[in-house]
Amino acid sequence: MSNKIILSGMQPSSHLTLGNYLGALKNWVSLQDDQDAQSLYMIADLHAVTQNYDPKVLANATREIAAAYIAGGVDPKRASIFVQSQIPAHSELMWLLSTMSQMGKLERMTQFKDKAGKNAERAGLGLFAYPVLMAADILVYRATHVPVGEDQKQHLELSREIASTFNTRYDAEFFPQPEPVIMGDATRVMSLQDGTKKMSKSDPSDKSRINLTDDADTIARKIKKAKTDAAPELPGDVAGLEGRPEIKNLYTIYAALKGVSMDTVFAEFAGKGNAALKGALTEVAVEHLSPITQRMADLMADPAGIDAILRDSSDTAAEIAEKTVVKAREIMGFWG
Ligand code: AMP
Ligand code: TRP
Repeated sequence: MSNKIILSGMQPSSHLTLGNYLGALKNWVSLQDDQDAQSLYMIADLHAVTQNYDPKVLANATREIAAAYIAGGVDPKRASIFVQSQIPAHSELMWLLSTMSQMGKLERMTQFKDKAGKNAERAGLGLFAYPVLMAADILVYRATHVPVGEDQKQHLELSREIASTFNTRYDAEFFPQPEPVIMGDATRVMSLQDGTKKMSKSDPSDKSRINLTDDADTIARKIKKAKTDAAPELPGDVAGLEGRPEIKNLYTIYAALKGVSMDTVFAEFAGKGNAALKGALTEVAVEHLSPITQRMADLMADPAGIDAILRDSSDTAAEIAEKTVVKAREIMGFWG
């Protein structure tokens, strides 16, 4: 058994963005070289149905996320790639954990507040309980490391609390404390149209994000149109980024894609104009993302091939999950 169990996931709610790639996927790939770790990457389809969605496209969106994982570099031979809804243990553990999750804590989740908006009274129970399902996703594998973007930190905190509550209430050292792994330079990639807003799949403006399915021309056009500011010169140090969120975002994306430090970026652009930054960013974005987009398209051309990978790759996950739930039932005193 590996010492580290790494688990993460993304929702098949729309095309993945550069934010998903830099904040999560790229890090998953660098973690898979750790020989001492077992990696599990799921497609969180049960989470995707907590908000309006189209049942006709869900299955294909699920395949597209699998294709993005593989195209982005997750190796199905080294990591288990699977679909959440295919493993009933997630839902069962969620129910068990819901009995030890406080409503007051769920009400404080910023993602719930954002997604429910003004109409929280009419939000579905699934949207409210979303973080409990996420805790179950993690704890059902007794995962020790969870690589995610900055926005998932609060959900991870709650998972840690739920794990402790279980262990205390049943006097069992059963669930380990899952560590959030928020790594890399771009833990929060911002919208190309507003440097104070997160780049998101659900932003109504497609110009606000780069999708992993965008071709080179689209990427170039979106970067060209990206919001900047009126200052004539680009900054050469951290202080110079003060009050310039859009430039900070473009610098951050550039550093992350190119694999260089912010100091290198400062040295490269100090005193230059926005066009220089946009030109260089387009070049590195296209160079880095085109092979991924191409590989995704190749994989998507053979849906049966993706289905086969998902089926083969999920056995390991299903086995671990089932064992955990059996043990959790036993600890909680159920018959059987
Ligand atoms: P989601 O798209 O909500 O399923 O998110 C999947 C993963 O991508 C999670 O680990 C998020 O934290 C991460 N992520 C999503 N958007 C961004 C962003 N704009 N910047 C960094 N990470 C992100
Ligand atoms: N809620 C996560 C997101 O939107 C996706 C997710 C579901 C997840 N279950 C998880 C991430 C378990 C990490 C671990 O980003």
